[in-house]
Amino acid sequence: MDSIIVKGNGPLNGQIPIAGAKNACLTLMPVTLLTEEPVVLTNVPRLTDITTMSDLLRSFGAEVTAALDGQELTLHSGAITNHTAEYEIVRKFRASFFVLGPMLAREGQAVVSLPGGCAIGARPVDLHLKGLEALGAVMELRDGYVHATAPGGLHGGTHEFPFVSVGATENLLMAATLAKGTTVLKNAAREPEVVDLAKCLSAMGAQIDGAGTSTITIQGVARLHGTTHPVVVDRIELGTYMLAPAIAGGSVELLGGRLDLVRAFAEKLQVAGISVAETHNGLLVSQNNGRVRAVDVKTEPHPGFPTDLQAQMMALLCTADGVSVLEETIFENRFMHAPELARMGADIEVHGGHATVTGVEKLRGAPVMATDLRASVSLILAGLAAEGETVLSRVYHLDRGYERVEEKLSACGASIQRVTDDG
Ligand code: UD1
Repeated sequence: MDSIIVKGNGPLNGQIPIAGAKNACLTLMPVTLLTEEPVVLTNVPRLTDITTMSDLLRSFGAEVTAALDGQELTLHSGAITNHTAEYEIVRKFRASFFVLGPMLAREGQAVVSLPGGCAIGARPVDLHLKGLEALGAVMELRDGYVHATAPGGLHGGTHEFPFVSVGATENLLMAATLAKGTTVLKNAAREPEVVDLAKCLSAMGAQIDGAGTSTITIQGVARLHGTTHPVVVDRIELGTYMLAPAIAGGSVELLGGRLDLVRAFAEKLQVAGISVAETHNGLLVSQNNGRVRAVDVKTEPHPGFPTDLQAQMMALLCTADGVSVLEETIFENRFMHAPELARMGADIEVHGGHATVTGVEKLRGAPVMATDLRASVSLILAGLAAEGETVLSRVYHLDRGYERVEEKLSACGASIQRVTDDG
């Protein structure tokens, strides 16, 4: 199994290209199930989660072909030949659940394994199920699988989510495009990935209003056609690499970066004393002012501070001047990076949904273990400014969501390399 070795190596300077968004791509790929015509996605990130989603869609009869070194995918579901998403694939990632809405809309039936628990909390799928029921689906839970049917086809309706869920909003949005009549989704997620999905569906002929606000209205249509759609830039990868110079010092330009995608996060960086500026090609982040200042952070649905950047932000605050409090409001168990950062000398106390970080002068390299995707990259970031060597194991978490981390960081002067156990 691979490990990554990082050594604190001084300031970083250079450019890092930001890939297409993993989370957007994972919800865009299943739109192929809504049309018999090919859908082409460009700016696709090269990640294992994308490969897993391709395998899942192929298991339904879709043809998925990659071009441009994996950065372009053509998805073609001329005929659906299977209706079951097996546990073997679904257990690998929750995004498998995105096939449920489109399959119900096109085929009137689907059987999808329940995703089960995951490292960052219970993460149930009840909001997806209740939402689809409101559109006329009938759900039965048997043997760990959701058996879903839509006997009379899906129909429109008004559905208010009890709290914001990105995935449930996306699943219902896809399903409602082919439902009979008008669907109104209230308390919908406003994340840029929802907006990107709506943009792609609209280009396929869907009638959608209000994506990016908390009320989305969808007028069902009889059929959707193919399209070519560029995946929106990955705001979480962007935020992660914005933290690299913030932590190690220096000045890095994030190519393709957009301030509007990371505004709440960028504001916190600025309060901490880090400069964030828009350039012709993206965003320039510089940190040449000595120690950063402590800052309090509370995760919230978009446009608030994203939970997917909380672990990385904590890595920065470990060496800030003062005490920072991080509050996690989206997932109940998302501080598993804290004990690993503590192994590197960080001073962190976790009480329920709050982590109190008292900044130390310097972190020290240590062997650490990735517990989930964002936690793993937070440990790499911490290692960039630590004294000595940090060895990160269980790198497969990282490969689910970050392409070519070593290449991107070493191009800016970081000392980072991947090693395999046998070599
Ligand atoms: C998506 C992102 C993930 C991000 C999260 C929040 C993808 C593939 N993943 O996950 O990276 O961290 O948004 O921005 O896009 N919940 C329920 N019942 C449900 C669904 C969710 O109780 O049916 C809860 C979750 O446990 C969590 C909260 O709702 O506490 C928000 O989760 P949600 O927005 O649905 O996250 P995901 O779509 O799974």
